[in-house]
Amino acid sequence: MALNFAFSADYSNFSLQFKIMRIDIISVVPALLESPFEHSIMKRAQDKGILSVHVHNLRQFGLGKHQQVDDYQYGGGAGMVMMVEPLSKCFDHLLAQRQYDEVIYLTPDGERLHQGLSNQLSLKENLLLLCGHYKGVDERIREKYITRDISIGDFVLSGGELAAAVLVDSIGRLIPGVLNDETSALFDSFQDQLLAPPVYTRPADYEGMQVPPILLSGNDGAINEWRYQQSLQRTKARRPDLLED
Ligand code: ADE
Repeated sequence: MALNFAFSADYSNFSLQFKIMRIDIISVVPALLESPFEHSIMKRAQDKGILSVHVHNLRQFGLGKHQQVDDYQYGGGAGMVMMVEPLSKCFDHLLAQRQYDEVIYLTPDGERLHQGLSNQLSLKENLLLLCGHYKGVDERIREKYITRDISIGDFVLSGGELAAAVLVDSIGRLIPGVLNDETSALFDSFQDQLLAPPVYTRPADYEGMQVPPILLSGNDGAINEWRYQQSLQRTKARRPDLLED
């Protein structure tokens, strides 16, 4: 199921200026991946033709009448394992069409996602993501096809789809041309190992709660210095581990 690849006339020469990223996702619950890319920044990225996201239903490669994709694990124990054959067929089908820079398995035992990794992946052109389910995938699939395992945190989700959505969102917004004001991603939390400073908008006085006067001063140098100090204070208070590196 292709989730959009609009190339409108307005953006017809975008490929000359911007890289186009294609992300394929293998899932047993593709419906979980419909909404996250159909709104806001991810939708805009696809409408501009900078990002294309394609979700593939593993069941299409399932075995037999019931399109089976999972089975009991050898050695006993609760929980099903995603089978080799449907996954191999699906991977071979996709790999026959293009080369992928990375084939990523979303799993709680993977490398923990961080901003640096999202930055790195945003420079790639073709990514293939596998969403795990049940007890996980047969290890032979990991050995044969997976180049990178990524976890979005030390907790267990029911499946890799929400993790894939998080990964695609964090990468997608970094692709040049996706954000309106490209500098805004540069000032995100974590880009320089610091949390972002507090932000304010109108009104300047809300029931007696004032916006810090420096932000109304028009003095860019002083504002930048204030923001930096706020970032530093916030990071020291909330995430001192970031300052240790
Ligand atoms: N699948 C289940 N839990 C996950 C996690 N924390 N990160 C990535 N994929 C997952």
